Amino acid sequence: MRTPLIVGNWKMNKTASEAAAFIRDLLERLTPSPKADVVLAPPFTSLESAGKALGPSSWISLGAQNLHWDPQGSFTGEVSASMLRELGCRYVIVGHSERRLLFGERDETIQKKVRAALAQGLAPIICVGESLAEREADKTKSAVTTQLNGGLAGLTQQDLVTVTIAYEPVWAIGTGRAATTEQAVAVHRSIRSFMETGWNSTTAAAMRILYGGSVTPQNAESLLASEAIDGALVGGACLNPDSFARIVRIAQTRRA
Ligand code: 13P
Repeated sequence: MRTPLIVGNWKMNKTASEAAAFIRDLLERLTPSPKADVVLAPPFTSLESAGKALGPSSWISLGAQNLHWDPQGSFTGEVSASMLRELGCRYVIVGHSERRLLFGERDETIQKKVRAALAQGLAPIICVGESLAEREADKTKSAVTTQLNGGLAGLTQQDLVTVTIAYEPVWAIGTGRAATTEQAVAVHRSIRSFMETGWNSTTAAAMRILYGGSVTPQNAESLLASEAIDGALVGGACLNPDSFARIVRIAQTRRA
């Protein structure tokens, strides 16, 4: 049984002090439970204060939103996997569509980032998803498969134990128009069968596949009720402690 995973991607929101205040508020609203894993992914500049606010060995993990693939060097403005590890990160989001579309990230660099994360013991959350034009042209499956091939090529079964895939249709991000549960389930099933073909059924069965794109406390119930959806990558709704806590509680009570 895969433990549900709820990830809050704060994007470029919350200063260090705002992060600490948010986490204090969030912790008061939640009860730790082994039934769901929770990750907060603040901006780089708020990771340290977020880690302090969570406290040592917190049941909520810290994640970053991006990383550079080299361990160090002349890469102005970039941050390496070991820097993130030292700040207490356990997860890192890789290949978010905003990075692909706004910052020109490509599958080759995404693959390098995934390998750098794994080499430092960070669990990558690899984002894939089709554009509206691709969906309308019936190219969802091929777009997602291309991204999976690009990001995961050459990874071993051992590597994939810690990898999470996040299916985030670009047209659903920040639009208030989430995929229906049926639409999400269809793509999640095709991702799992891609893993089965490329690796094996054990690897495919163990891997968590999250849905992201306009997840709210209102639609989380239906999305998370499906056994094909192992959690959520939440953007807008994770910035409010009440709505994020409600989504976490839905995951904690699912499949009870
Ligand atoms: P929204 O939940 O705001 O649509 O953002 C989703 C997302 O991009 C999470 O990574």
